[in-house]
Amino acid sequence: MYKDRLLFIRNITLDLILQGSSFKMNRIGELLSLLILLLVSIVEEVQACTCFPTHPQQQYCKADFVIVATVKREEVRYSKSFIKSDVIPEDPNFMRFPIERKFKVRIHRKFKLPKTFIGWNKNNFLYTGGSGASCGVMLKNRVTYLLSGQISGPDQQLRISMCGWVQEYKTLNYHQKKGLNYYYKHNCNCSVQWCTYDFCNGPRDVDPSFVCKWEPNWTNDCYTKHGFCTQKHDGTGCHWKKNRKFKNCLVSNNEKFPWRQNREREIAPQIETNEHSPGFEWP
Ligand SMILES: *[C@@H]1O[C@H](CO)[C@@H](O)[C@H](O)[C@H]1NC(C)=O
Ligand SMILES: *[C@@H]1O[C@H](CO)[C@@H](O)[C@H](O)[C@H]1NC(C)=O
Repeated sequence: MYKDRLLFIRNITLDLILQGSSFKMNRIGELLSLLILLLVSIVEEVQACTCFPTHPQQQYCKADFVIVATVKREEVRYSKSFIKSDVIPEDPNFMRFPIERKFKVRIHRKFKLPKTFIGWNKNNFLYTGGSGASCGVMLKNRVTYLLSGQISGPDQQLRISMCGWVQEYKTLNYHQKKGLNYYYKHNCNCSVQWCTYDFCNGPRDVDPSFVCKWEPNWTNDCYTKHGFCTQKHDGTGCHWKKNRKFKNCLVSNNEKFPWRQNREREIAPQIETNEHSPGFEWP
């Protein structure tokens, strides 16, 4: 779509350059403002949703709710009111992109829910942005998902987005289910942060000893599949909890063990020297 517009803009620009001298000033001004208008609309269309990679444990901890639900029906809103998703709006020029979607879902399990929320029914609506550009999630009918999200507004809408945890429920593995049932909930004092070397993406006010570092492997991420960031028994911080599958996964990826890395860092030598240190000579 915007490719057409780019082409159009290029043609106008060429026109301007080739025939510019013969244009009257107001004509050029008109074209320029048209150009700017088109550029603005392109920028709006191309604007995309960006989410930082987030570990399931962090998804669980930052969410207002975490549920398992099956999609029963989808409705979309192009303007004021919702219509069935397979109905094409009467005036296609009015709004080609839906503003919002809602999914009627049947909720099977609630792994997390705020005590203050009173709207739980067997059937609830989940709201999301109308398109991928507004971080909207496209769920499929009759499919069961694990979903995390936020509760927003005075009418307590359950909102999901592409930046939350959205996964077909049947693809969750043993450790992710174990995390949902137990480990994630009991370790929200810990924080899994996406790191590149020592630069981590996360809130600054977290005590670094409560941070488990995570460098996602985009092809096969052992941390997402098998990792729990748990509190140390002495309460001094958090670390990646060892388990056999986690270890095997790291071995098959040829990745370092996070528990070994920590130890290496702890025993890093500290050398203090000054002119008066006795018995020490540089070679
Ligand atoms: C989390 O940390 C706070 C203080 O640092 C402590 O009071 C609280 O008990 C901890 N929560 C859990 C679940 O351990
Ligand atoms: C990521 O996983 C693949 C195998 O699934 C492995 O070959 C690769 O070395 C890993 N990448 C890193 C950076 O560890």
